[in-house]
Amino acid sequence: MPSPPRRGARISHIGIAVRSLDENVSFYSEILGLAQVPLEDADGARIAGFAAGDSLVELLEAESPESPIAKFLDKRGPGIHHICFAVDNLDATLERCRSAGIRLVDETPRIGAEGKRIAFLHPSATKGVLIELTED
Ligand code: CO
Repeated sequence: MPSPPRRGARISHIGIAVRSLDENVSFYSEILGLAQVPLEDADGARIAGFAAGDSLVELLEAESPESPIAKFLDKRGPGIHHICFAVDNLDATLERCRSAGIRLVDETPRIGAEGKRIAFLHPSATKGVLIELTED
């Protein structure tokens, strides 16, 4: 029996904080063989994107010492910064979070990279994992 089409959340991208894009691009492109996807800067970060199936790996380099990525690197060093899930209905998902008492970074969706509506959940509510939600 064919399985029904998959709906619901999927991983849109994984954001990885690095000190230098230049020093890390070749691992993903040349060694792992992921195709590079041009992405615009967002949230104070320069971004190098790579396609991994339907998901992206995004290397995030701080644009300035005040940017959130710089603060993350100071505190925790390079590593996974956030996981972004694409959900069917961002407003409804945020409302479910709110009802469940999950602390939000963004009370209402804002415009993030590539003009998409996004919202971050607070990592204190999600076992230390910074979760971004988007719609596609
Ligand atoms: Co992101």
